Amino acid sequence: MLLSLKLEDLFVAYSLDSAALSNRPMVKRYLSDLRGSFADAAAYEAALAQGNPLLYEVSAVEPATGDGQLHYGLGILYPGNIGDEYYLTKGHYHTHRPAAEIYIGLKGEGAMVLEDEATGETRLVPLRANSAVYVPGHTAHRTVNTGAEPLVYIGVYPSNAGHDYGAIAKKNFRKIVVQRDGHPVLLDR
Ligand code: F6R
Ligand code: MN
Repeated sequence: MLLSLKLEDLFVAYSLDSAALSNRPMVKRYLSDLRGSFADAAAYEAALAQGNPLLYEVSAVEPATGDGQLHYGLGILYPGNIGDEYYLTKGHYHTHRPAAEIYIGLKGEGAMVLEDEATGETRLVPLRANSAVYVPGHTAHRTVNTGAEPLVYIGVYPSNAGHDYGAIAKKNFRKIVVQRDGHPVLLDR
C-alpha cells in the first residue's frame, strides 16, 4: 500500500484562508443548491432573487480505501444568514451508519448540529479553532457559521463512510440554529 501511494496522497498542503488543498478541486455549494435546507422558505426565495451566493466549499483527500483507511476533507463555510438562520451545510448521515467522524476547527466561529437517528435527540456543539468535535456513528451532522468570518475546518472519516444526503433531503434536521440577540440558539423547526 505505502509504495503505491503518491507523495501528494501522503502530504497535502492547505490554505487556512481559502481552505484549498494542493492539487484538489473544491466542490462549491451555492444558495441554489441548498433549496429546502432553510426553515424560512420566503427568506430563502427572497435571498435567491437577489443573487446566488457561494455558501461553502469542500475538498477531499481520499488516498486509499479498504478496512481501516481514512479519508478527510477541508471545508470553508462563509458567514451569512437566511432570515435568522445561519448559513449551513446540507448535512448528512454516513451511508455506513456506524462510521464516526472527527471535525477539527481551524478558523472562525461556528457550531455543529448533531442529531441521533434513532431518537432524534439533538446537540449543538461549538466548532472553532483549537478544538475538535466528535461525531458519533448513526448521527446526522451539519455545520453552521455563527461568526462574521469564514469558518474553516477539517473532517476525518473512515474511507467506507459514504455520504447519505437523501435522508436529510427527505426529512430535514429537527432543529434549526438562529441568531437571537447576537447569539446562536437551537430551536424546533
Ligand atoms: C465528511 C463531512 C464534511 C462535509 C462538509 C460539507 O463526511 O462530514 O467534510 O462533507 O462539511 O457538508 P455536506 O457534505 O453536508 O455538504
Ligand atoms: Mn460526515
